[in-house]
Amino acid sequence: MSSTDKVGPTGRPLPTFPAPRPLSAHGPARIIAMCNQKGGVGKTTSTINLGAALAEYGRKVLLVDFDPQGALSVGLGVRANELDVTVYNLLVERGHDVHDVIQQTTTPGLDVLPANIDLSAAEVQLVGEVAREMVLSRVLRPVADEYDVILIDCQPSLGLLTVNALTASHGVLIPLECEFFAMRGVALLIETIDKVTDRLNPSLRLDGILATMYDGRTLHSRDVVRSVVDHFGEDVLHTAINRTVKFPDASLAAEPITRYASGHGAAEAYRQLARELISRGAAA
Ligand SMILES: Nc1ncnc2c1ncn2[C@@H]1O[C@H](COP(=O)(O)OP(=O)(O)OP(=O)(O)O)[C@@H](O)[C@H]1O
Ligand SMILES: [Mg+2]
Repeated sequence: MSSTDKVGPTGRPLPTFPAPRPLSAHGPARIIAMCNQKGGVGKTTSTINLGAALAEYGRKVLLVDFDPQGALSVGLGVRANELDVTVYNLLVERGHDVHDVIQQTTTPGLDVLPANIDLSAAEVQLVGEVAREMVLSRVLRPVADEYDVILIDCQPSLGLLTVNALTASHGVLIPLECEFFAMRGVALLIETIDKVTDRLNPSLRLDGILATMYDGRTLHSRDVVRSVVDHFGEDVLHTAINRTVKFPDASLAAEPITRYASGHGAAEAYRQLARELISRGAAA
């Protein structure tokens, strides 16, 4: 990693992240939970677009929709409400093959394990299960060797589904919206990550905090990012995602921004995020 003279959005010198080397073989996957119990901070948007950027670099990527709202599935063009079998059935019923539930997307190398509103019942149904925190881990095991990266799009809660995502993961990435109350709740999230690390998944690590909806023209956005860096230091990724209407537009088109507006700065930001994570060792 070399450094340019340029100061990045986080107020630190911005390194240049080299284009990753092509992979000659695939798997086993590094699994990353995209997690923040605050709603609307860019979890789903980041899951789709980081996944698409990694796929552009030749990585085999699986995105797991782990939110009953199903926004990830819909954002990738999957009509999840019409599906009879989704991640929900894999969690609570025996006899399904995860391969049959995974769908390809229009982006080569990018697959999705869809969810719909059925998943909202899983939390209650899993409570009585043995090893109820490890159910998603079991569901993903048969495909882990087939992908380089698996990203799990968590719902905005710290309930049992999110604990399952953290237990199944090697790393967690926290998208943080650049607004005044961004840090509110992050302490509780870190506490939950620490508990999971302590009791369920000792190899879990914080892969980084990603500033989203950043507007470098406002002092406010810059102040928020600086205070996040003061607090979390090198855990804050150098890449920040600008606020732009291209994201909602791409969602409506049910395409990753890397395809919908391939040359736009927002697409390039997610490519840089992919390179940054690869150079940090958080992705293959
Ligand atoms: N960088 C951005 N600039 C502008 N709008 C954005 C950006 N990122 C996400 N959005 C929009 O903000 C809204 C919330 O984003 P997203 O759904 O990714 O958040 P989320 O954390 O997954 O939300 P939830 O907690 O409800 O699952 C969406 O309408 C999305 O299109
Ligand atoms: Mg979401």
